[in-house]
Amino acid sequence: MIDLAAEGRPERALLAGVEATGDDTLWDVSDSLAELASLARTAGAEVVGTLSQRLPTPTPNLYLGKGRVNELALRRRDDEFDMLIVDDELSPSQQRNLEEAIDARVIDRTALILDIFAQHARTREGQLQVELAQLEYRLPRLTGLRDSLSRVGGGSRGASGGVGGAIGVRGPGETKLEIDRRRIRARIAELNRDLEVVRRQRATQRQQRASQLIPVVAVVGYTNAGKSTLFNALTSAGTLVEDKLFATLDPTTRHLTLPTHQEILLTDTVGFIQKLPTSLIAAFRATLEEVVEADILLEVVDVTHENAVEQSQTVNEVLAELGAAEKPRVTALNKIDLLADPSEIDTSIYPNAVCISAAQRLNLDALLLKVSEVIAEGMARVRVLLPFDRGDLVELFHRRGQVHQQEDRADGVFLTGLLPHSLAGAFAQYEAAPENTGRRLEATP
Ligand code: GTP
Repeated sequence: MIDLAAEGRPERALLAGVEATGDDTLWDVSDSLAELASLARTAGAEVVGTLSQRLPTPTPNLYLGKGRVNELALRRRDDEFDMLIVDDELSPSQQRNLEEAIDARVIDRTALILDIFAQHARTREGQLQVELAQLEYRLPRLTGLRDSLSRVGGGSRGASGGVGGAIGVRGPGETKLEIDRRRIRARIAELNRDLEVVRRQRATQRQQRASQLIPVVAVVGYTNAGKSTLFNALTSAGTLVEDKLFATLDPTTRHLTLPTHQEILLTDTVGFIQKLPTSLIAAFRATLEEVVEADILLEVVDVTHENAVEQSQTVNEVLAELGAAEKPRVTALNKIDLLADPSEIDTSIYPNAVCISAAQRLNLDALLLKVSEVIAEGMARVRVLLPFDRGDLVELFHRRGQVHQQEDRADGVFLTGLLPHSLAGAFAQYEAAPENTGRRLEATP
């Protein structure tokens, strides 16, 4: 874990980003830095300034240009900041060179995100995944001047023992490094074994859920969009809600009954973020499998955020990486209580959008009705006459499907409505004739 508070006070962080001129990224460098500042504060640092530099591409040696690095070294000498946080993932050598050049600790976006993930992981699986991702990140960086292992290897950050160590202080000796590396590898192997066990358990749970044939709706969205708040408002589950990035690190799943009386499973997922390190996506693949296996995605967008569109596009990119971008989707445009005139929102750019306030519980019924509609699009139209002794099927129809009409007739219960395709087969033999004479038909293919 990165220690962002020295002697009980937050460390003063200066933030730096490169605006790569040849890059067609979605995000403006100033927006990206604003977000990095928010990440840094979430991790416990005090942000004392930001700077950006336009370059064709980050420099291979130092990330920033030489001139900028010299300027930073001077500002560091004037004690303007304790550490530098950069808005991209640095290569191990970039990080080492920068640390040496400015004589301060350098942290990259990946390490920061990993740190926040580590602070917020609540279940054992989440904790295992984050620790694994942290160690894999750390392994190739072990030779760093200031980077030794505080937890696994028991080392300190440079011989001066502090963040602002003297120039020329060497990292741990070769033997110590070898021992550190060996320990990390052993721990990685152990974590992988533990994770395998957890994954098997999760797969079993998912299979059980699938066998219940209840549609699964996964709540997805950019970090801080309001997923947990909405999840709680809909299920009153009492999941932790924090005004911090990444309060949600593990999916939680709850039953929910829609206004159409149909049951669904609602599952909350980890928040997405731009430049989410690929290694982290891999580490969280098991968690994100909930998204991959969901029938429908409920995307929460903080529509009041100035980068709402970019955030939603980033969510789309992550979904595409997971192969889940094409799933049926409902968009909850959240936090409309903060807007003077919500009717000004352009809802047309989002699929099946409904304006809501999760915190004020505004328009949640309309949102759930939209969810029912979208679920209905993937269901089969069914018209059956069920014998009186099949009360179980009548109940199943209500719980798993959407009933449009129900009537007690002389020879059974007549029902029309929608059922999941997977369930429709169980009702096929009771299909009612279109003219409905109350006759029981044989199963149709
Ligand atoms: P991560 O765990 O980071 O992915 O966040 P999240 O998407 O689960 O967001 P969360 O529900 O934790 O909400 C983030 C912040 O937004 C909290 O401070 C909420 O109180 C606030 N919030 C959520 N919904 C609303 C809303 O409808 N209106 C307002 N004004 N604030 C909201």
